Amino acid sequence: MYDLSAIRKDFPLLEDFIYLDNAATTQTPLPAVKAMEEYLYKYAANYGRGAHRLARMTTDRYENTRETVASFLNSDVTGTIFTRNATESINMVAYGLQWHHGDHMIVPIVEHHSNLLPWLRLRDQGVEVTVVQVDEEGVVDPEHIELSITDRTRLVAVNHVTNVFGSIQDIRKMVQIAHENGCQVLIDASQSAGHMPLDMNKIGADFLVAPGHKGLLGPQGTGILCLRDPDSISPMYLGGGMVSSVSIGSYQIEASPARFEAGTPNIPGVIGLGRAVEYVRDIGVGNIEKHEATLAKKAASLLAEIPGVQVYGPKDRAGVVSFNVHGMNPHDVAIILDQTRKICVRSGYHCAMPAIKGVGLKGTVRASFALYNTIEEVEILAETVANIAELVDR
Ligand SMILES: Cc1ncc(COP(=O)(O)O)c(C=O)c1O
Repeated sequence: MYDLSAIRKDFPLLEDFIYLDNAATTQTPLPAVKAMEEYLYKYAANYGRGAHRLARMTTDRYENTRETVASFLNSDVTGTIFTRNATESINMVAYGLQWHHGDHMIVPIVEHHSNLLPWLRLRDQGVEVTVVQVDEEGVVDPEHIELSITDRTRLVAVNHVTNVFGSIQDIRKMVQIAHENGCQVLIDASQSAGHMPLDMNKIGADFLVAPGHKGLLGPQGTGILCLRDPDSISPMYLGGGMVSSVSIGSYQIEASPARFEAGTPNIPGVIGLGRAVEYVRDIGVGNIEKHEATLAKKAASLLAEIPGVQVYGPKDRAGVVSFNVHGMNPHDVAIILDQTRKICVRSGYHCAMPAIKGVGLKGTVRASFALYNTIEEVEILAETVANIAELVDR
């Protein structure tokens, strides 16, 4: 049974706020906060660098998290890397692939800037970047990917779920098309990891990136990069913890995952992430998916009924609902929602300017849901938006 009131007890902030900005970052459950507190109070030491018992305990807990995350995403433990956020994970792939002048890659327009700018910058190295258009609901047509592939295409980088419209992409089809044409695929699972079942092996992705701080409920400053073949990219950072021998003339880099984790990592964050992923796993990601889809569907239909409100995106969406109140700036709507009912939503371009401008908008209000939101919260949102819409002089 999906015990929503028990879940909500693990997120005390929800007693005071209607938190609907989960696509930006989620709240972290108490068991994960306690795991971080335990590390900081009881055994804090550096990771992978000491023989003493605290260092060994820290290293064990950190590696336990790697196993937990790898098993949750069905990726190889050695190809599961901890990063600071999804942005860093994507940059590590963009940097780490050996690009040659004239190489080609494909990315849809409906991407967060994090899955766009690292690719556009490759143009400076002579890489051709094709930005594929999407339909008005933010859905990528796999055929458009296929039509854009050339004999120099090396990579397709695509989101699983858009942070703008909640559209779910047919990533299995896109991976199939890309692989048939000898291209690698990066899946940006920022809005799907922890929100719906995700299986790196089944999807067949070469690279899968996710933040730790969204659907996986970990703390900010955590991210994940899953690599099918850890030798397919070179490390972006060099330094301590990732080399087996160093002399002034040469150095020997460790195997993955150490190879990609130079420097002291976010140890408390990773340990908290591990406990958070266990929390999501125990509730069941399929149950979470169903719950969030119900909330999003209800929100979209209630909002669409309000005169002067337009809802964007497809009917079958993940837990993201973008809308506008005609005649009002999205930021003003967000401020009134906060000031009147402590409803926290995102407004503006959602770090996806080309996607939003591409459908002729100057921004939207975005309500995004997590496992702990309720139908009552959705109803309060709709009721408050209806009150706001009535303020507009039409
Ligand atoms: C689809 C998508 N990709 C990438 C990111 C960037 O994530 P992070 O802030 O963890 O780097 C986000 C964040 O909102 C996102 O929604």
